[in-house]
Amino acid sequence: MVPEDIKKSINQLREQINYHNYRYYALDEPEISDAEYDRLLRELIRLEEKHPELVTPDSPTQRIGAAPSEKFTTVKHQERMYSLENAMDEKELDEWYERLLKSAGEIGKNTGRPELVAEPKIDGAAVEIVYQNGIFTVGSTRGDGVTGEDVTLNLKTIKSIPLKLISRNVGIPERLDVRGEVYMEKEKFNELNRRQIKTGQEPFANPRNAAAGSLRQLDPKITTARPLDIMIHGLGSVQGKLFATHSESLDYISKLGLKTVKFLQVCNNLSEVKKYYQNLLGKRDEVPYEIDGIVIKVNDLELQKRLGVRTRTPRWAIAYKFPAREETTQLLDIQVQVGRTGALTPVAILKPVRVGGVEVSRATLHNQDEIERLGLKIGDWVAIKRAGDVIPKIIKVITGKPRGKKNFTMPGICPVCHAPIVLAPDEVIPRCPNIACPAQIKGTLQHFASREAMDIEGLGEKIIDQLVDKKLVLDPSELYKLNLEDLLTLERMGEKLAENILASIEKSRRPIPARFIYALGIRHVGEATAVILAEAFGSMDKLKQATKEKLENFYEIGPVVAESIYNFFHNVNNKEIIDRLKKFGVEYQPVSKKPAGPLTGLTFVFTGELAKFTRSEAKRLVQEQGGKIASAVSKKVTYLVAGAEPSSKLEQAKKSGIKTISEEEFLKMIEK
Ligand code: IVH
Repeated sequence: MVPEDIKKSINQLREQINYHNYRYYALDEPEISDAEYDRLLRELIRLEEKHPELVTPDSPTQRIGAAPSEKFTTVKHQERMYSLENAMDEKELDEWYERLLKSAGEIGKNTGRPELVAEPKIDGAAVEIVYQNGIFTVGSTRGDGVTGEDVTLNLKTIKSIPLKLISRNVGIPERLDVRGEVYMEKEKFNELNRRQIKTGQEPFANPRNAAAGSLRQLDPKITTARPLDIMIHGLGSVQGKLFATHSESLDYISKLGLKTVKFLQVCNNLSEVKKYYQNLLGKRDEVPYEIDGIVIKVNDLELQKRLGVRTRTPRWAIAYKFPAREETTQLLDIQVQVGRTGALTPVAILKPVRVGGVEVSRATLHNQDEIERLGLKIGDWVAIKRAGDVIPKIIKVITGKPRGKKNFTMPGICPVCHAPIVLAPDEVIPRCPNIACPAQIKGTLQHFASREAMDIEGLGEKIIDQLVDKKLVLDPSELYKLNLEDLLTLERMGEKLAENILASIEKSRRPIPARFIYALGIRHVGEATAVILAEAFGSMDKLKQATKEKLENFYEIGPVVAESIYNFFHNVNNKEIIDRLKKFGVEYQPVSKKPAGPLTGLTFVFTGELAKFTRSEAKRLVQEQGGKIASAVSKKVTYLVAGAEPSSKLEQAKKSGIKTISEEEFLKMIEK
């Protein structure tokens, strides 16, 4: 017999964990720290391990670990899952609305314009989840609308889906079928694709395919590793609760802990809907997931019912699609651009065309290989695509149209400074080797001043071009010498503007450490690596002196990046610029140490092959928990973690009396 107080503790823990899951995954507003959350979860695991008879399928400990299935079984949706009619342009939207008003009138309840709801159309995979008395019982794909595949185990791996609904302030319906879109954030999708490529697997074509593919994995362990999320946008069958409107129903279910669509707006008429559409279209690239339009729904559920459905689509809703991000246009020319590292990149000059609501007249071509792969000739008609927030790309030549005639070849001299181009033996990108090349200087300054770097407002491309052409500024440090007279010699420069620019330069003298490091434009050091460097090397002086070995100890930093950082700080020219910046008072405040973690004060060395992680994952885990990594055995090392076939480090450690632990022991230590 299990004592009542244990049962009670288990229940309380589950409630608490469910609630904090909801705060964290659905609302993105955690109330407690990760460490506190882990403590609750660990306590629950401990109690459940002691009393396995008390484990229930809705316990938060049950998200993973299910065995793979042979194939999916099917689930019949209690109520049919309909699809949406599409409006491809404003005219089609107007026509739908006319029909709607007419139908609403015909059915005799035309008491004015029906209230509408507009929400984003999320480009993902549709699913339905059934809650019986608040417990997640079955989850399925849309399938053909009548029956779908049972993907319960896979859906249970998605943390924003509660396994048990929260009943803090509202009652829970006996049955609640919710419908939503499983999706993958754009960033996470890119990361996943990088991983796929690295491990020799096919990358996914787009986030929707990645989400749908991950959802239909027979092995839930694979799904667990995929960054899936969900947003609920409607209900199916509901028993034990009545709603008057769609918006009210979503409000209600979000109180139950479900993550519902964001940016929902109640509109009183079609012109409000159109405003909403334009506004969201403008924000399309800022939204972290793909949206391919908006969905407009009649808010009144009673009216929805009366309007009814056609064969596959309801009359009460429509998808108003965003313009395609793919278009065709003509390739007018290929120009060569010189970047801040001297890299020469061909750029396609296109006949201007609107793609996804934005005018496009240039596209990147990466390198000569890409041009050859596409078989491009100047004058060709091409298909171009704007994917997410990236620069437009040429995807293919349209072979059905008249073909271009002129071939393109990379120039042998820099188009800006005329220095002969070099192609290093281990590189694919040709470069201008002249560090005094105006194009490189301009690129460096643009990067330095950019919003993500020093954020010097007003110092745009045109002004930088002039500053360099007039030789007023030849490296970032010289920005801090500029005065009003200098700026007033530039074209179209008024006193007010010049003063504003000087003020923004002045403001940038005390940069955020990571931004300053990023601003230096070290090859292979993006914003994320800059953050790591800033945290790891409290001051610029320490960073300047870092050895390659020390740099490589950070899991994100591989040998190529470490080499690049090291070389940067050992280049005379760069050293002088950094010194001059310091002289002009451009310096960051030393960074204070990260808060302590469970491994704070411990230093680890790894040797041999690990079974459960890659070396870099292990390093990351140590660093995340406050520990340090060393590459060699020394007195500073606390533990040597020995995997299979360890190197001589193991012997060294034993000799020096350093504690040696196995991978299992290491695992236990980090799990604590
Ligand atoms: S409502 C009958 N709302 O788009 C209405 N659907 O192309 C059912 N979708 O099958 C859907 N975002 O999977 C609705 N905010 C949203 C949506 C949305 C994406 C999907 C849904 C539907 C498909 C139709």
